[in-house]
Amino acid sequence: MATIRSRIRGTGRALPEQILTNFDLEKIVDTSDEWITTRTGIKERHISEADEYLSPFCAQASKQALEAAGIEAKDLDLIIIATVTPDQPIPATACFVQDLIGAGRAACFDMQAGCSGFIYGLSIADNFLRTGTARHALIIGGELLSKYVDWKDRATCVIFADGVGAVVLSAEEGERGILSSALHADGSMSDFITCPGGGSKIPVSHEMIDNNLHTIKMRGNETFKIAVRSLEAVCREAIERAGMTPHDVRWFVPHQANVRIISAVAGRLGWPEETIYLNIARIGNTSSASIPIALDELVRAGKIKEKDILLFAAFGAGLTWGSCLVRW
Ligand code: UT7
Repeated sequence: MATIRSRIRGTGRALPEQILTNFDLEKIVDTSDEWITTRTGIKERHISEADEYLSPFCAQASKQALEAAGIEAKDLDLIIIATVTPDQPIPATACFVQDLIGAGRAACFDMQAGCSGFIYGLSIADNFLRTGTARHALIIGGELLSKYVDWKDRATCVIFADGVGAVVLSAEEGERGILSSALHADGSMSDFITCPGGGSKIPVSHEMIDNNLHTIKMRGNETFKIAVRSLEAVCREAIERAGMTPHDVRWFVPHQANVRIISAVAGRLGWPEETIYLNIARIGNTSSASIPIALDELVRAGKIKEKDILLFAAFGAGLTWGSCLVRW
């Protein structure tokens, strides 16, 4: 029987127009362009305006991805948005996007796995497609993290940024598409990256806001060390599951969390600079959006050739981590 695989047929991205540079940040918190550049690799990032929110950016990226795929919104069976920054708690932002793009047949839900959300979403959709439950799926990684950042906390506000990336995935016979994926989590480190307030545990209240529990907190240095080890292991896992070796990977498209994490992982796997796709200097850390944004840049620059092997890998709040190997 012919193998059914989930192939990425189209990609898109949307970023707020406003750009915040490291020099702008020097005026907001006690930091410097030199510190941010050397510790993270970030030079500037896109930040949304006060009246902007997630779903219109998702719709913009999705329309691009659908056009590139040559698929109409009404043919979508499934819309998944990986996000920790939805439009509102209820309903799912995916439902707003369905309405904005006219995808009336699609089942819609949001899910979150921190910065690993896009990989989790891709893997969920892959299972829908390979079992025949859906033929065409839209997977979006979208975040407006600037809305959740504590602009007095220099350890986080210089890192996180806004943006959306989207892919259209279709079930097809053949060798192209998702070859393997690997997903992991360790909830015993749930306090490493957290936004403690605003849920059922600490509901919204004046006191919650006075105590600054509505913003993101991160134990950055501890997260950094675990990220490098876990990413190396999960990259190897997806590669081995597909019966390949690290040498087979043409493009490593990692979550853009920190250039030092990415270089360390690439070094451990023996990948030269030209294998790694980096846009963190311009885009910052957009959590679940960073991989689909990077992928769309690569695709539109014409850098990926048919049958190239791509590896996506991410690490984030949860803690969660995962990887996905694709034959283009
Ligand atoms: O997105 C997915 C999950 N997240 C990650 O993967 C993030 C992983 N972590 C990181 O990327 C890095 O840990 C950071 C970039 C967040 C921080 O870099 P670091 O090299 O681990 O710095 P650190 O937290 O150990 O802090 C070193 C120093 C401290 O000062 P002292 O105590 O040595 O005097 C900080 O207060 O750097 C200070 N610092 C800053 N200085 C200038 C922290 N943030 C800043 C800043 N500007 N923005």
